Amino acid sequence: MRRSFIAGNWKLNLTNAESRELASQLVTNLSDVNDRDIVIAPVFTSLTIVAEVIKNSPIQLAAQNCYSQTTGAFTGEVSPILLKDVGCNYVILGHSERRQLMNETDTFINEKLLKALDTGLSPILCIGETLQERENNQMLDVLGRQVKGGLDNLTAAQLTDVVIAYEPIWAIGTGKTATNEQAQEAHSFIRGLVREMFNQDVADKIRILYGGSVKPNNVDGLMAQADIDGALVGGASLKAEDFIRIVRFERGKAK
Ligand code: 13P
Repeated sequence: MRRSFIAGNWKLNLTNAESRELASQLVTNLSDVNDRDIVIAPVFTSLTIVAEVIKNSPIQLAAQNCYSQTTGAFTGEVSPILLKDVGCNYVILGHSERRQLMNETDTFINEKLLKALDTGLSPILCIGETLQERENNQMLDVLGRQVKGGLDNLTAAQLTDVVIAYEPIWAIGTGKTATNEQAQEAHSFIRGLVREMFNQDVADKIRILYGGSVKPNNVDGLMAQADIDGALVGGASLKAEDFIRIVRFERGKAK
């Protein structure tokens, strides 16, 4: 059985005071949860404050990005070592917003992922197709390229520290969630790719999250799918009540 994993990607939102408040509400309402991983990813400038608030709670910290080098003349970048130093266990890499807005390539994402693993940070590798790619029947090619490119040069042992997030771009921030069947089909395909690239054991163990308009009213159905192990939540993770309900998903209540 894979341990469920619910992560909130706060994106470019919330001041320090707002981050502290939201994190405090999550600590108060989720401190009894011990059968699933709970992760939140604030902006860089709030990481230290949020780390302090969630200390001694089941909630873990993620950053939204990192660089592929540890130190040096790289103005404006943040390295995995520094993220580890402020209390992060995870780092989100290859989010579609970065692929699209900052032109991040699979090669660059792979370099960052390898550096993160070297440092002891677990990467959450995001992949996903655009609407046009889906409509042109290119979805499987795109996912294949992103998985193979993102996980290039990893050993099977390293893969146990990686989480994959399937986030169809047409479902992000649009209120259009993939149906349970569409999400399951993609997840099963991704798990198959991991089996081909590595082995059955690693494919059985790797956690694959779904992201794209996950809300309290659709999480139970998504989590009831065989290959969906968790959720990467954007908008709804900014509302304490919604995120708490998503963390407390109940497969048995799936519609
Ligand atoms: P939304 O939940 O707002 O669609 O965002 C999903 C996402 O991009 C999480 O990384």
